[in-house]
Amino acid sequence: MSAMSARRGQALLWFAQRASAAVLALCVVVHLVTMIVAVRGGLTAAEILARTRGSIGWAVFYGVFVVAVTIHAPIGMRTVLAESSGGHRRGLDIAMTAFALLLLAAGLRAVYAVTAG
Ligand code: HEM
Repeated sequence: MSAMSARRGQALLWFAQRASAAVLALCVVVHLVTMIVAVRGGLTAAEILARTRGSIGWAVFYGVFVVAVTIHAPIGMRTVLAESSGGHRRGLDIAMTAFALLLLAAGLRAVYAVTAG
């Protein structure tokens, strides 16, 4: 990879992590407010599913939340791990891509489980 495209890649990762952090901050606020409101409506599994099942709005919200974490966490951990292991290696990119795919699959599966039907 040329030095120019490597720099561009770094800038893109930096931007993706900042932008996903901003989305996460908003999601966390919405999530906290939801929890406060939900406590009054009841917190049993049946009560939670009654609110989320068939809701396109909650499916989109939690879907965005999952995608933001999928982007944010592996990029941040890549930086920290590269620093603590004394340099950036290709294996790290492969491991972080695998980690991102795992987060995405597990997260979207959970969103589907509570909103489908
Ligand atoms: C849930 C809401 C979250 C918010 C609002 C948030 C926000 C942020 C912000 C603002 C930064 C600094 C970014 C920068 O300086 O460019 C950051 C860095 C970081 N975040 Fe998050 N974050 C969240 C969740 C997570 C999660 C779930 C992980 C999981 C591992 C994570 C891992 C990291 C790491 C490792 C860094 C440091 C990256 C570096 O030093 O370059 N964050 N986060």
